[in-house]
Amino acid sequence: MTRTLDVDDWAERIQRETFIRTLEIHPEIGSTNDRARGLAEDPRVERPCLIVAHRQTAGRGRGANRWWSSEGALTFSLLLSPDPNRLPLVRFPELSLTAGAAVCAALRPFADSADVRLKWPNDVYVNGRKICGILIEVPSVGTRESGGTGGTDVVVGVGVNVNNRIEDAPAELRSKATSLCDVTGDPPSRLDVLLAVLQSFERHLDLLCDQPDEMRRLWNRYDLLAGRFVTVDDGHDTTCGTCEGIADDGSLIVRTAAGPKGIYSGVVQQFG
Ligand code: BTN
Repeated sequence: MTRTLDVDDWAERIQRETFIRTLEIHPEIGSTNDRARGLAEDPRVERPCLIVAHRQTAGRGRGANRWWSSEGALTFSLLLSPDPNRLPLVRFPELSLTAGAAVCAALRPFADSADVRLKWPNDVYVNGRKICGILIEVPSVGTRESGGTGGTDVVVGVGVNVNNRIEDAPAELRSKATSLCDVTGDPPSRLDVLLAVLQSFERHLDLLCDQPDEMRRLWNRYDLLAGRFVTVDDGHDTTCGTCEGIADDGSLIVRTAAGPKGIYSGVVQQFG
């Protein structure tokens, strides 16, 4: 089914109902993250800035992966410049989990009674299958002296499978992914999902800055991996063991044969 973007309706509701100050809506674009990184070079662009696309032709995933961005998918990027007094650069790794938790909270009301979980560091799974991927990139450090915003920019790219049926996905995704329309059988509006995610993101970002302990409790409440046997590749080593949750600094705690180990970045390749 072809769905078009009613650009005026989207723009009006996003501006009225969310914290977004600059908005671009594209019928088609290569990658919303690439566009957001380009806009990050212009300090006059007011943050938070949202780039949303009806369709991406070169959507990027983590590492060298591509992101399946067919019609019906919700794909967008946020360009933010968090206040360094509230969220210094060293805490940016926590943004990843926070974005994932925000998407979990936003999707729950759309997913009936399905099990919505956060897979470290920021994938969202519904009933054991991936429904959302998040790609976080830090494009530049824009100090006030150099004409920047005074904060450090961060791009949060989000892809949620909403009305794109998994039977139409590339073969390698079909057994691993899901979409809201497959979970509920009832196609939700992408705009409603986008508004819910943006509102949830703003709330969770405030929580991360002002009540970090509460935010950390939420990561662990949504955690998909706790108690499971995991295999994690951090680019250098592969670690196997039982996951014991997420530490306060955002690292994944894995109990290996040699004792507990904190993993700061990587990909969970398998979990049982
Ligand atoms: C992953 O799980 O590998 C991350 C996927 C992130 C995909 C989103 S879609 C919107 C934004 N633009 C991109 O090119 N990628 C992100």
